[in-house]
Amino acid sequence: MRKNIVAGNWKMNKTLQEGMALATELNETLAGYTPNCDVVIGTPFIHLASVAAAIDKKKIGIAAQNCANKEKGAYTGEVSAEMVKSTGAAYVILGHSERREYYNETSEILNDKLALALANGLTPIYCCGEALEVRNANGQNAFVQKQLEETIFKLSVDDFKKLVLAYEPIWAIGTGVTASTEQAQEMLAFIRSIIAGKFGQEVADETSILYGGSCNAKNAPELFAQPDIDGGLIGGASLKVADFKAIIDAF
Ligand code: PGA
Repeated sequence: MRKNIVAGNWKMNKTLQEGMALATELNETLAGYTPNCDVVIGTPFIHLASVAAAIDKKKIGIAAQNCANKEKGAYTGEVSAEMVKSTGAAYVILGHSERREYYNETSEILNDKLALALANGLTPIYCCGEALEVRNANGQNAFVQKQLEETIFKLSVDDFKKLVLAYEPIWAIGTGVTASTEQAQEMLAFIRSIIAGKFGQEVADETSILYGGSCNAKNAPELFAQPDIDGGLIGGASLKVADFKAIIDAF
């Protein structure tokens, strides 16, 4: 079902103690108050279970930032979708550009991760987005379309309906450069149109699509007011409760 969502992506930040302090402060800040959007925090693996035990999971959903492309067994250092689910997390961020770029995650690997996440009842927050060279050559639509066609467009319609999408242009991530409201709206409308082409208009209208990349309290109100932008995937600005809360309040 289409929802407004503000999802934090802590990336590789915060010790366990710092992360617990951040999560509990957010939990307290949101207590006794109903945001106009779903709130999710994407913590490192080691925080998941402790955060899940300490916060109101009905108010704040918990996401892992990755899961293994294998079910279980001799894969030293990996964390499976089933393990993620067992912590109390409900979401998993998949296909983030940092994973694609620095950890060589291909569409093939992502398809295995998507299948395992879905089989374990996790909601994937599936990321796509182009690099600056691609944008400069005006190739962003074709690039993003290919990313989706190679992965989530291969899912059954029932599985596709369980996903949340996030468009994050790589040139806007952590750079302080946000896509302009027009660029973000244009791309999210394009993504919705190709979803409609693949799965039908009704499915497209029911898909939550987030924007990510230097989204902050200042630009969020204008971004979230766009017809196709259903929220944000927030990196840097999710690491301070006041900043993250201000983005939540942009809805
Ligand atoms: P940023 O990161 O908000 O720090 O740009 C967004 C993301 O990578 O999810």
